[in-house]
Amino acid sequence: MKTIIFYFSGTGNSLKVAKDLAEKIKDTTLIRITSDYNFKKDLTEFDRIGFIFPVYVWGPPLLVNEFVEKLNIPKDKYIFAVTTCGGIPGATLIYFQKLLEKKGIVLSSGFNVRMPGNFLPLYGARPIKSQEKMFEKEKNKIEKISSSILENKKTKIQKSFCLFNWISIALYKTTAHNLRKMDKIFWANDSCNSCGICEKVCPVKDIKIIEGKPVWSNKCEQCMACIQWCPVSAIQVGKISPKRKRYHHPEININELIK
Ligand SMILES: Cc1cc2nc3c(=O)[nH]c(=O)nc-3n(C[C@H](O)[C@H](O)[C@H](O)COP(=O)(O)O)c2cc1C
Repeated sequence: MKTIIFYFSGTGNSLKVAKDLAEKIKDTTLIRITSDYNFKKDLTEFDRIGFIFPVYVWGPPLLVNEFVEKLNIPKDKYIFAVTTCGGIPGATLIYFQKLLEKKGIVLSSGFNVRMPGNFLPLYGARPIKSQEKMFEKEKNKIEKISSSILENKKTKIQKSFCLFNWISIALYKTTAHNLRKMDKIFWANDSCNSCGICEKVCPVKDIKIIEGKPVWSNKCEQCMACIQWCPVSAIQVGKISPKRKRYHHPEININELIK
């Protein structure tokens, strides 16, 4: 059986989950969701279509919504989704399920996987030991998710325990649209060596290096890739970030995201 997984990832957590699942499911094509995807790929040859992405304020990244709206998804496929989140996924997958429903597509299964949080404006990286514990748990969860997918099982779509869907969706709808302009407070300090990694890793071409420094253009997904992959931690968020430890998944190489 052939599977295709579309993933969105800023700091590698979702790519790691996508790679681990691909290894278990076999015969899987992985495609990063970026703003320049050309939508020419014919999906009829695939038996399963998966979407893997991080939770942003209890919903999918805006680019993921736009991507799915444009994607021509054949109706007779096994469709699954996996989110990665720092701790509270809310009803992200319920929102995603409704998005697919509007296209006449049924989400067959949906899972949340906890990974280290990457939202530097609120916190720095967890201690390494705590990250390692999470990665151990991720391995176990991948076992369960992959065996479910291999059987094409229809499962209950996962969400945060004891949370009304409407609360989660209301929070998402009132906050998510602000994310794109939040790059207004990003800047690079004097450690910036103009390497251009931030420009290359950005999934939406939001960054241009001008006179040796990154300049953002307010179409940001807030994926944190530019900040978290900067090899000299030069990129800052307002005044709050210089002392916060950076995070990206330790087993992901930046070239995997750039390609
Ligand atoms: C803008 C933004 C919003 C986030 N909101 C949430 C959230 O509501 N709940 C949560 O558990 N984690 C949240 N996170 C953490 C990410 O979902 C988590 O770290 C994810 O695994 C990152 O995936 P990636 O490494 O593939 O980019 C947020 C992160 C960002 C950057």
